[in-house]
Amino acid sequence: MTSRSTARYTGMAMVLHWAIAILIAINLILVWFADKWPQDWVRPAIDTHKSIGITVLGLAIMRLLWRATHPAPPLPDDYPRWERKAAHAAHIALYVLIFAIPLSGWLHDSAWKDGPTHPMKLFWLAPWPRIPQIAHLPAVPKEHFHDLLFAVHKALAYVLYALFGLHVAAALKHQWIDREPELQRMLPGKHP
Ligand code: HEM
Repeated sequence: MTSRSTARYTGMAMVLHWAIAILIAINLILVWFADKWPQDWVRPAIDTHKSIGITVLGLAIMRLLWRATHPAPPLPDDYPRWERKAAHAAHIALYVLIFAIPLSGWLHDSAWKDGPTHPMKLFWLAPWPRIPQIAHLPAVPKEHFHDLLFAVHKALAYVLYALFGLHVAAALKHQWIDREPELQRMLPGKHP
């Protein structure tokens, strides 16, 4: 039987989990309100969105490597089998999304016709490349890819909203209805 007081993620796993969650939330806010910002904020907002997205991609790589070498704490023994399986599947899908969303954004941006005159910089500091196989395509297929990859980027964000809703609902159900110390698994500090 797992001791619940010790069934917690490592500190690094917690840092990566919350950093990715917060950065994704900021990134969504930046694009949701893009048409509400004053006109001269829009370009900096989208540039920040790109930089944050690339940061998420870097953190996602670190997270996957950490996860591969530091197994998750086991779920309490009394969680039904279907719930364990559903949680496992949802977590895999969330991992896929934290890679696929920034990657599709990067691909989409690489196909931007104005890319050559708007070089990308990470947080206005370091130059960041566009994917050459896409950036150097002729104009017509490039425009086609630009639209297609935007549709993919957007669709993946919708999948993220749905899975995120499920993820939070499941965590809160365990926390408040089943009265399990669920959130403590991903929070620092001493817990009973
Ligand atoms: C945390 C990762 C990311 C998330 C959650 C995210 C999510 C989104 C969402 C929801 C939209 C709005 C779609 C719509 O209009 O309905 C969007 C737009 C966009 N994203 Fe991302 N994205 C991420 C990373 C990236 C990256 C890495 C890049 C490029 C390097 C990028 C480039 C763009 C661009 C250019 C747009 C269109 C903005 C506009 O002109 O309105 N995204 N993204």
